[in-house]
Amino acid sequence: MSEHERELAEAQREHWQRTHGEHPGMYGEEPSEPAVHAAEVFRAAGAVDVLELGAGHGRDALYFAREGFTVRATDFSPAGLDQLRETARAQGVEERVTTAVHDVREPLPLPDASVDAVFAHMLLCMALSTGELHALVAEVRRVLRPGGVFVYTVRHTGDAHYGAGTGHGDDIWEHGGFAVHFFPRDLVDSLADGWLLREVHAFEEGGLPRRLWRVTQTSPR
Ligand SMILES: C[S@@+](CC[C@H](N)C(=O)[O-])C[C@H]1O[C@@H](n2cnc3c(N)ncnc32)[C@H](O)[C@@H]1O
Repeated sequence: MSEHERELAEAQREHWQRTHGEHPGMYGEEPSEPAVHAAEVFRAAGAVDVLELGAGHGRDALYFAREGFTVRATDFSPAGLDQLRETARAQGVEERVTTAVHDVREPLPLPDASVDAVFAHMLLCMALSTGELHALVAEVRRVLRPGGVFVYTVRHTGDAHYGAGTGHGDDIWEHGGFAVHFFPRDLVDSLADGWLLREVHAFEEGGLPRRLWRVTQTSPR
């Protein structure tokens, strides 16, 4: 990792920790549209346990738990995960949810072939270099059981904020303190190398609106 990447990573960790602290429940209590879709895909695949990366305060992790899945929720912000655990208790689903503070630049803290499904909404488009993304997706594949499903979403180069603000290289742009890696389509394809790429679905979220792809890929059996 270059010195610039290290400084950007540390600044983003502090920024997200501060943001979760100052804006508790910032994404609301309702699950995201990709989480509702993912729950259907995971159920159809017979999944029982779900790993969520970049879970924030848990609008989606808690939805998966309410839907009956066992959820391991990770994020590098302890403030977000504190809120997630508090809401899990309030909703009576704490027995189905565990949390771990984890930076996805590090290897996933799970054994090989130990989860049925992995979900990550707007996590891969954080300030992660292309090299870090390939390493992360290899880790997701390692921890998934054969035939396991990975659903992730990313903002892409058709988003209105692509090219706005401060450029950090590698299609990473920082706007309002939030650094985003805007995905070109060939990055989606290269991250699916060795997987079965089942769907790339374009959708929008929020008032900007954010323009995203929802990607579904399966680990080969
Ligand atoms: C755009 S928010 C989405 C949160 C959640 N997925 C949702 O949609 O409600 C991105 C989340 O990823 C977390 N995050 C960013 N970079 C991360 C990293 N390198 N490792 C782990 N979590 C990270 C942030 O703390 C934040 O909670």
